[in-house]
Amino acid sequence: MSNKDLIKGFSRLSREEKIEIIASGLSDHDGFIREIRQLQHPDPEIQDNLNNFSENSISNFPLPYGIAPNFLINGHHYLVPMVIEESSVVAAASSASRFWFQRGGFHAEVKNMLKIGQVHFLWKDDPDRLKSSFAELRDRILQGTKHITGKMEERGGGITQIELVDLTGKIKNAYQLRFSFNTAESMGANFINSVLEESAIIMKNFFQQEGDPGSPIEILMAILSNYTPECIVKVETRGNIKDLEVKGSSLSGKDFARRFVQAVEIAKNDVYRAVTHNKGIFNGIDAVIIATGNDYRAIEAAGHAYASRNGQYSSLSYSELSEGEFVHGLEIPMALGTVGGLTRLHPLAKWSFEILEDPDAPTLMMIAASAGLANNFSAIRSLVTVGIQKGHMKMHLDNILAFLGATVDESEKAHKEFTNKTISHSGVENFLKQIRSKK
Ligand code: MEV
Repeated sequence: MSNKDLIKGFSRLSREEKIEIIASGLSDHDGFIREIRQLQHPDPEIQDNLNNFSENSISNFPLPYGIAPNFLINGHHYLVPMVIEESSVVAAASSASRFWFQRGGFHAEVKNMLKIGQVHFLWKDDPDRLKSSFAELRDRILQGTKHITGKMEERGGGITQIELVDLTGKIKNAYQLRFSFNTAESMGANFINSVLEESAIIMKNFFQQEGDPGSPIEILMAILSNYTPECIVKVETRGNIKDLEVKGSSLSGKDFARRFVQAVEIAKNDVYRAVTHNKGIFNGIDAVIIATGNDYRAIEAAGHAYASRNGQYSSLSYSELSEGEFVHGLEIPMALGTVGGLTRLHPLAKWSFEILEDPDAPTLMMIAASAGLANNFSAIRSLVTVGIQKGHMKMHLDNILAFLGATVDESEKAHKEFTNKTISHSGVENFLKQIRSKK
């Protein structure tokens, strides 16, 4: 089979057959197979476990697993596991956590934990009939989903509300049932979707029982919403501006704080800056979310929607100065779980939880948000003082050297050479050419 033809039944092939098909189209067939095998886990049980996470898995794609120490959150010291490929992120988080460790740390709170799900449907009958049947329908749904919600209720969760939402002003005949859920320690996606799909069936039967020849209702879809504006975590750092002097910068604490607040103000008002600013926040948040086996795409999507909640995409963090006190904070939706999904299945996510001392879901939300705020702090601190390239390229030098195939000896020489020089790919390449030509 050539890998350029339509490949039928790929998922049913063995892993070795899949690898062979891919390798047959590559420049270095044997090299690919060698590396693919090297990156498989030596323990077959763990590798099987990893394979089960995704269809057509042929190996693993390693990313650095790092630790940012010194996160003082509500007075408790955490070592925060972070999975991220960008060289400066863990360094930036660690630098900010250390800075704030000596100034009271991060003050965090979870404001609410509700999640939303929707059953979308078209109603082609008299709207009043739908509205007047709603209270009875809601009771039927609450009763009819007990076999799914029972266990969750024992853990303190369940359906907290069902509303009928009329969308006909925008879309002809369109309505939805909007559910609110408390999902206790889990992120709850499977639980929510199961309840919604069951509710859709109950709803369809409910209206059909009334003896209409044609059903007045057409169920379109039943799915949780990843927008969770009622599952919010807030984290803040506070410090006296006199304590904010930045090493390596000639700015006073007061001037630093003024420039910092100004930078956040720009991110609040300019979408081009806001996106980069928020991306820097997600550098920290995503890294913690991946390390704990949670769904970073869901958290990012909710965060960006929340950043637009007032009609314009804006900064997720805020900063202000008042009577000599500097405040930097972040408020963000974050539907995380500590059970379910990959949280306990991924071999390293399990350890991440132990490193974090087995946090409950609200604590994990506070830790991830603190990492986001820490990365935001470090980014703005660099931007308004020495710029980000100095630190960033210092960290990136090893990547450039690896890309250019530098030996240990060449790398040492390059690190010496670029201690006080601007680092660029071409600069490093020229330097290597120079020392290689002298050999
Ligand atoms: C780089 O990954 C993130 C930053 O661009 C964030 C920012 O500009 O605030 C440094």
